Amino acid sequence: MTGLATIPFNRPHISKNELPYLAEVLRQGFTSGDGPFTRRAAQLLREMTGSCQVLLTTSCTHALEMSAILLDLRPGDEVIVPSFTFVSAANAFALRGAVPVFVDCRPDTLNIDERLVEAAISERTRAIVVVHYAGVACAMEAVGEIAERHGLTVIEDNAHGLGGHYRGRPLGSFGRMAAQSFHETKNVQCGEGGALLLNDAALVAPAEIIREKGTDRSRFFRGQVDKYRWIDIGSSYLPSDVLAAQLTSQLECFDDIQFRRHAIWRRYHEELAGWAAKHEVAQPVVPDGCAHPAHLYYLLLPDLRNRQALIDHLAGKGVQAAFHYQPLHTAPAALRYGRVAPGGCPVTEQVADRLVRLPLFADLGEAGVTRVIDAVQTYKMR
Ligand SMILES: Cc1ncc(COP(=O)(O)O)c(C=O)c1O
Repeated sequence: MTGLATIPFNRPHISKNELPYLAEVLRQGFTSGDGPFTRRAAQLLREMTGSCQVLLTTSCTHALEMSAILLDLRPGDEVIVPSFTFVSAANAFALRGAVPVFVDCRPDTLNIDERLVEAAISERTRAIVVVHYAGVACAMEAVGEIAERHGLTVIEDNAHGLGGHYRGRPLGSFGRMAAQSFHETKNVQCGEGGALLLNDAALVAPAEIIREKGTDRSRFFRGQVDKYRWIDIGSSYLPSDVLAAQLTSQLECFDDIQFRRHAIWRRYHEELAGWAAKHEVAQPVVPDGCAHPAHLYYLLLPDLRNRQALIDHLAGKGVQAAFHYQPLHTAPAALRYGRVAPGGCPVTEQVADRLVRLPLFADLGEAGVTRVIDAVQTYKMR
């Protein structure tokens, strides 16, 4: 060990107005959902994404579950998802009895390989879920064309992508719906939280009902009906205004958070370039037209042995690094609930073994970044 404090993989940033807003929300005597801070946070998200409505949720997972209910999936319907992603993209649809169909990722961006999507479509396919890994956009023209040709809905899992753009257009604005995460590991966070972005006005009324336990309570609170009733299926997906207060402060500081994160991302990318090239380590690829939000920084080591050894080496230098997604298509639940697209997912299997993420959080500081870079550069390849 180094004698220096360990650099954690992530430390949530405390933004300027967070503590005053938390005091305010407790004083205002309104801590349940859809209060003043919920409205403020939703407005800020609408301005960032251009979505016609934004509904805060208790997580990205719940926003994805809402999208699955909105699709009115029937048992046996299929939803195309990348194998290289977080479990919620598959689980949310399996919960509705639908079959997640796993597609491999591209070796450069690690996003769903759009060239493999069409072969995964069957007459039961209803939707394509895309995940902008690390906030680097998927090939949205190609995905959009395939979806249009086959009459499918595109859903963006934009957990990594808030603030990212593709050809000048905000991520989260391409799908009919998009799901955001405000988990503490995300660029802006409230511990646990999320949002469903709606880019089709026809979805706003049903989505409000789903989020309010299947009732028209939102309309009741706006004075549009004189009582609220059970209208359709739904659940309790509404976060407390306490969380929305924290989130509002974070969103108001978005530019400052992003400035700091981009500075760290750039230093990793530039200062590790020589070492990476010498040792056949791949760095993130950001294609033309993609403006990413510096959500995470990763390296692809030559193999699993070196990936594990690098994580151990960094731990010995007081730096916490992390691997990322285990392939979904080989997970125990995938065998029960999903199917794999023709050709399997060989790239996902390789990437899952090789990827290591470095600490990246707004308060890491210059000295912290230097320590991480030095620690990586002293690793001896096996
Ligand atoms: C791509 C992706 N989607 C969804 C989630 C789930 O987010 P949440 O914890 O807000 O449900 C994660 C979690 O990190 C994620 O990486």
